[in-house]
Amino acid sequence: MASPETVVGELGASVGRSVTIRGWVEHVRVHGRVAFVVVRDGTGLVQGVLLRKQLAPEAWEVGCGLTHESCVAVTGSVQEDARSPGGYELLVEDVRLLGSSVDFPIQPKEHGVEFLLDYRHLWLRSSTQRAGLRIRAEVEKGIHDFLYERDFVRIDTPILTGAIGESAGTLFETDYFGDRAFLAQTGQLYVEAACPAFRKVYCFGPTFRAEKSKTRRHLTEFWMLEPEVAFADSEDNMRLQEELVVYLVRRTLERCAGELEVLGRDLSALERIQAPFPRVSYTEAVEIVRAAGSDTRWGADLGGADETRIAEHFDRPVFVYNYPKGAKAFYMKENPDDPRTVLCNDLIAPEGYGEIIGGSQREDDLDRLTARIDEEELPAEAYGWYLDLRRYGTFPHSGFGLGIERFTAWMTGRPHIRELIPFPRLMNRLTP
Ligand code: 4AD
Ligand code: MG
Repeated sequence: MASPETVVGELGASVGRSVTIRGWVEHVRVHGRVAFVVVRDGTGLVQGVLLRKQLAPEAWEVGCGLTHESCVAVTGSVQEDARSPGGYELLVEDVRLLGSSVDFPIQPKEHGVEFLLDYRHLWLRSSTQRAGLRIRAEVEKGIHDFLYERDFVRIDTPILTGAIGESAGTLFETDYFGDRAFLAQTGQLYVEAACPAFRKVYCFGPTFRAEKSKTRRHLTEFWMLEPEVAFADSEDNMRLQEELVVYLVRRTLERCAGELEVLGRDLSALERIQAPFPRVSYTEAVEIVRAAGSDTRWGADLGGADETRIAEHFDRPVFVYNYPKGAKAFYMKENPDDPRTVLCNDLIAPEGYGEIIGGSQREDDLDRLTARIDEEELPAEAYGWYLDLRRYGTFPHSGFGLGIERFTAWMTGRPHIRELIPFPRLMNRLTP
C-alpha cells in the first residue's frame, strides 16, 4: 500500500508511520553508506536519513545524486529527533526525483545583491527571503484584521487615474485611448469619496512613483494601506496610527518568532514599542536636526538623513507633525493656528528606517482646496469630482498611508526595502 502523503508541518501526527513528503532539496550529504537529505516543502524542513542497506539500489542512487533545489518525493517512517530541523526525521524507504535541478545558480556562498535580484525568482526560496516575505504576509493579514474589527470597509481604488494624487513630479504616464492616464500614486482621493458612504474606509494596493532615487527606502512600485475616517481630526489620526503600529508589532512578535529568529532581528527593539509615541512639531524637528549638524532650513521637507537624526533621539517611532504647506501635498488642511503649516504628520521609525507613515487631516474648505490645486499648478479639470466632495456635504476627515515594504523592513531589520516585496521594481529593474 502506498504511504499516505503529508506535509512537514504535520509530521507530528504520523510518528512511527510511513508517509510521503514532496518538496525541494535544500542539501545532501553522503557519508559512505549513509546519506542525509534535507527537504523543504513550504511548511517546514525535514531531514531524511538514507541507509544504503535498507534501500533498493535505484533509490539509493537517486538519493545520493540529488542536487540543490531538485524536486523530490521522499517516503519514510517518521521518527522523533530533537536534533533535526522541526524535531522529526524520516527514515527513508524510497526517493523519487520529480524535477531535476542542475547547477542551481544560487550557491551557499556570498553573492552580490544585483546577482541575487537577477535571480529573484529563485532567491525567494532562501531562508531569509522566506522569513521576510512571510512576515510581510502576516503584516498584511494583521492590517485587514485590525481594520475589520474596527468596522472599516475596504474600498478597492483604481490603478489607472486621470487625477494626480500626490505630486506631478513622480508620475508614470500612459496613453489611454488618446488621453493621458497615470498609474495611481495613491488611492486616497477615492477613499475620501467613499467616506460619506461608509464613514470608515481603507484601500490596500499597489501604488506607483517614478522616483529617480536609488535609496534603500524607495521602490517605484510599492504597496500601501490607506485608511480614511470621517469626523477624525489630526489628533485622532495619529492615535489610530499608533494603535495600528503597536498592534502589528505585537502580532509579529507573537506569530513570527521563528522568522524573526532566522533574520537575527533584535527583539528588544520591537518589544519596547508601546503607545504613546513621542510627538515633535516640525519646527522642533528642524531645531533637532540643525543641532545635529543638518543644514535643513524651516520650510524645507525633511530628508532621509534628517529623519535618521530625529529617530536617534527616541526608542520608538516618533510623530513629526504640522509641516510647512510648501513641503506637503495639496490636499492637507491648513492649520488654523499657523496658516504657514498644514495639519499633518509623518511617523518616523527607529533604527534609520525613516518615514513609514504619512498622514493628514484633509482640506475640507472648497475655496482653499481650489486655491491649493491652482498654486500647485495641477490640472484643475481633473479634480472636478474631487471638489464635489467639498460641494456636497463637506466634512472634517483624516487619513494616512502606511508603506508595507518600509514597515516590514523595519519589522524584519533588513537593510533595504527591496527584499520585502516579492518582485521589486526599482529605477533600474523591471525583471524578473
Ligand atoms: O507620504 P506619502 O506620499 O502619502 C500618501 O501617499 C498619502 N496619500 C497617504 C494618505 O494620507 N492616504 O506615502 C505614504 C507612505 C510613506 O510613509 C512610505 O511608507 C510609503 O508610503 N512610500 C514609499 N514606500 C516605498 N517606496 C516609495 N517610493 C515610497 N513612497 C512612499
Ligand atoms: Mg510622505
